[in-house]
Amino acid sequence: MKIVKTIDEVRTQVKEWRTQGLSVGLVPTMGYLHEGHASLIEASKRDNDRTVVSDFVNPIQFAPTEDLESYPRDINRDAQVVEEHGGDLIFNPEPKEMYRDGFVTFVDMSVLTEELCGLSRPTHFRGVCTVVSKLFNIVRPDRAYFGKKDAQQLAVIKRMAEDLNMDIEIIGCPIVRESDGLAKSSRNTYLNEEERRAALVLSKAVFCGINEVKSGQKNCKNILDKMKGIILNEPLAKIDYVKMVDAKTMRQIETLDRNALCAMAVYIGKTRLIDNFFTEDIL
Ligand code: PAF
Repeated sequence: MKIVKTIDEVRTQVKEWRTQGLSVGLVPTMGYLHEGHASLIEASKRDNDRTVVSDFVNPIQFAPTEDLESYPRDINRDAQVVEEHGGDLIFNPEPKEMYRDGFVTFVDMSVLTEELCGLSRPTHFRGVCTVVSKLFNIVRPDRAYFGKKDAQQLAVIKRMAEDLNMDIEIIGCPIVRESDGLAKSSRNTYLNEEERRAALVLSKAVFCGINEVKSGQKNCKNILDKMKGIILNEPLAKIDYVKMVDAKTMRQIETLDRNALCAMAVYIGKTRLIDNFFTEDIL
């Protein structure tokens, strides 16, 4: 397993694999890898001959008030995770390698980015689409792997690949949870002991929503009210949003159908956490 810092090095390696007729999977990450990322690496390893993991805290997807500086970073630990799970190459560029002086080109998207996280983070998806497009152009993978925890990101990237005719299969992988239910996230490291306990309201609300849907409830407001009730009971939690949307368009819906996404963002203290479920996974 190799770690490279430059675009040229990635291209040289991928070209070599291509001349040997090997397929390539890409797992884009911002590092500080956990079991959720490991599951993406394993999925890529199952489907492809070689797996590239990008490890880059992308500055342009953070607003000035967000946690770019404090976002956890540890390339040595990440290298161990990638090695253990069978990744072949880590691309760990410096920001100036990805955004050279005079960088002015961005990939932007309307509609899908106007709800959910896009409402409270209006510049976020422009940063995500831009960096993911660049990674696709640098690695030129056959397939790319994203976690379903970032459900809106997954929908946005699928749509971007479709709209811009990117010849890459986008694969969404299930949320990986701690044994008590909390969805794995690099940001969980921000939580102190009390906040970690309080953070369980997200998964509790998700499991409550899943039960409501399974029991045949079709009225989205009724489902969401029960979920919000759980979160509002926790004094350390502050709801950013808890919404039911069409899983493709990200537009809010009132009556449940098979293609819905129930998504939430909740502040636990200063830490903003997300969680969700797709109805197609449970119905
Ligand atoms: O999900 C993430 O970690 C990031 O948003 C991604 C896709 C690696 C782009 O920076």
